Amino acid sequence: MLLWLLQSLWGSLHSRFFIYGAAASILLTYIVLAIVTQNGPLHTTRRKLKHLRKLSVSVSNMGDQYDPKFNLSSESKADGPPRIKALYLHPIKSCGYIEVDRALLLKTGFMYDRCFAFAAGDLNGEDYDVTAKWRFISQRTKPMMSQIKTEIWLPHQTSDPHDALVRCGGCVVMTFDNPDVPSWTDRIETFFQTWSRSAAPQLSFIVPLDVSTIELEGFQTKPKTFGIHHRDAKGIDMGGIPSVAASLPKLKKFLKIPKDQGISLFRCTSETVVRTDRNLAPLEYIGSPALHGYTDQQPIHLNSLSSVQAVSALLPSENQPLNALRFRANIWIENSPAYEEETWKRYRILPRSNSTQPRAIVAPRFSVVCRTSRCTMPNVNPKTGIFDTDNPLPEKKKGKPQPSTTLVQYRTVETGNKAALGYLGMHCVPEDTSLNEAEDLGGGLFVEVGDEIEVLERGTHLYGSTGDDY
Ligand SMILES: *[C@@H]1O[C@H](CO)[C@@H](O)[C@H](O)[C@H]1NC(C)=O
Ligand SMILES: *[C@@H]1O[C@H](CO)[C@@H](O)[C@H](O)[C@H]1NC(C)=O
Repeated sequence: MLLWLLQSLWGSLHSRFFIYGAAASILLTYIVLAIVTQNGPLHTTRRKLKHLRKLSVSVSNMGDQYDPKFNLSSESKADGPPRIKALYLHPIKSCGYIEVDRALLLKTGFMYDRCFAFAAGDLNGEDYDVTAKWRFISQRTKPMMSQIKTEIWLPHQTSDPHDALVRCGGCVVMTFDNPDVPSWTDRIETFFQTWSRSAAPQLSFIVPLDVSTIELEGFQTKPKTFGIHHRDAKGIDMGGIPSVAASLPKLKKFLKIPKDQGISLFRCTSETVVRTDRNLAPLEYIGSPALHGYTDQQPIHLNSLSSVQAVSALLPSENQPLNALRFRANIWIENSPAYEEETWKRYRILPRSNSTQPRAIVAPRFSVVCRTSRCTMPNVNPKTGIFDTDNPLPEKKKGKPQPSTTLVQYRTVETGNKAALGYLGMHCVPEDTSLNEAEDLGGGLFVEVGDEIEVLERGTHLYGSTGDDY
């Protein structure tokens, strides 16, 4: 009896030690993890955003983009008017996109679309010499730019007005895979963010939206010049902002930019927007010359899901289905037969969405200036950042680039641009009348998912036929 008592007492002591020991080590692990995850680079970024709200959709409107119900052939007849299926912004030229349910239309296009661009060029000593002009970089040569995630965070009604980022009107957050061998703390943080052991640790950095409020010693708000295709663009060099400066070397490595080259991020402002200089829309419709920031050509790019599905059916089976997001349109329409948008010269967007958010009850009007001539960029797979090809023929090492080979073959529907790798999508310019009406009414000229399109005028398009000067 006494022995049994002694034994069980010893046993419970033993297990009690064991429990205390286990609890202590769990607690210690927890504390270490908490320190790591609370101070890791991603968490540090998130904490700075606590007074802001992310601009995005809760569920993508393009989740069902491959559904055959959007596959209206060019011979078919649609039941009802075309509708806005989805809306996209590309705050940083050639980087990741943001999907939204509504977008504010301005003279220069949608707010926050292509308002930043990366440019690179020779490094002359410490700083770069403005006369040795830098050029924009894009997915054409740096396809991994598609893997730079972009978010926009904005102040809301109850934001603390004293918060630094609230005073900057919000910010852009860019996130990309850390090109360096990650530290063990980065690995732990990544694991607890993603619950995946294979996920690559990421870096993120914040870029304030409104540069006029930035008070930093030596920060130069005088725009610098860099090249975008054939033209000179101007922008404020954001490289002097500490969060940007700290991340540029890593970004340079991520994009495999040569060591002797510099890279920086440039911000478009109301002083640096310029007139479009190709395929000009008639002034009698648009009012005053079209303006843009860092888009290649016009303020707005529209495309149709039926057209993408029609192209998809022409692709080699290994390249199907064709992801519409390769074409980087702002406005995606549905319920319109394939390529029907190529007959539009003017249209307006009727405010028909079910949203209850405030907006000016004005139907924005657009002039359609030309087809979008494509380059190699649609070959970049938005999911991987790799140029896609079809399966190579038995005697060949490499396949042909896709979808551009198919676009050249089937979608060279006009001869206006000799350099075009086929045509898909339409360039559009908002007309001043609707912008002015909305300004008088207040509330903002918004385009929303679910809105309807009314075609006002039809005709033929030929790239370059409208002239490059008034
Ligand atoms: C879409 O329609 C075309 C014919 O117009 C057909 O060849 C193709 O297979 C269809 N695609 C899908 C995904 O149903
Ligand atoms: C808007 O509401 C109507 C009727 O409630 C519904 O039929 C329609 O699908 C809705 N549209 C969108 C885009 O949610």
